[in-house]
Amino acid sequence: MADERLPARPAWETDFPIERVEAQHVSRREFAKYLVVVSGGMTLGSAVIAVKDDLLPRAALGTPIRLAGVDDIPVGGMMQFTVPGTSLPGILVRVDATTFTAFEQKCTHLSCAVYYVPNHQRIECPCHNGAFDVRSGAVIQGPAPRGLHRFPVEVRADGVFLSADPKTGAT
Ligand code: FES
Repeated sequence: MADERLPARPAWETDFPIERVEAQHVSRREFAKYLVVVSGGMTLGSAVIAVKDDLLPRAALGTPIRLAGVDDIPVGGMMQFTVPGTSLPGILVRVDATTFTAFEQKCTHLSCAVYYVPNHQRIECPCHNGAFDVRSGAVIQGPAPRGLHRFPVEVRADGVFLSADPKTGAT
């Protein structure tokens, strides 16, 4: 039976009748189903993000990978790279004439890309004003729970090499 408090139905509803009150009513059961589906999806998404790095293929680092020539990066300069064979982003920093450091280019807070800022002589995260030590990757300021993931590098006469790790063949 139609509700007499509602305005008259348009002509199209004669061909496709719906009960307006029912169409606008969401039962407690339907709402609970919606909540279960949404919260289940969010839980699954979070779990995938948490284990994503472990599921991605590791780089086959049987031999060191040449990242750059020693003179390709000036003192105080930085070079971005992607570890060959992976999607891991990295930064290579020339701290002084003979010292190079490399880190995964991912803030340990919420994964923003980090950059070396020569004026401050530290690696910084623009998202929440985080900062890391350029030699060790340790947290200097900001909300990051731990230091940057450091990649081992080796400086040779013919270049700077990624000598292992990603992630994590160590040495
Ligand atoms: S994502 Fe880097 S400090 Fe928040």
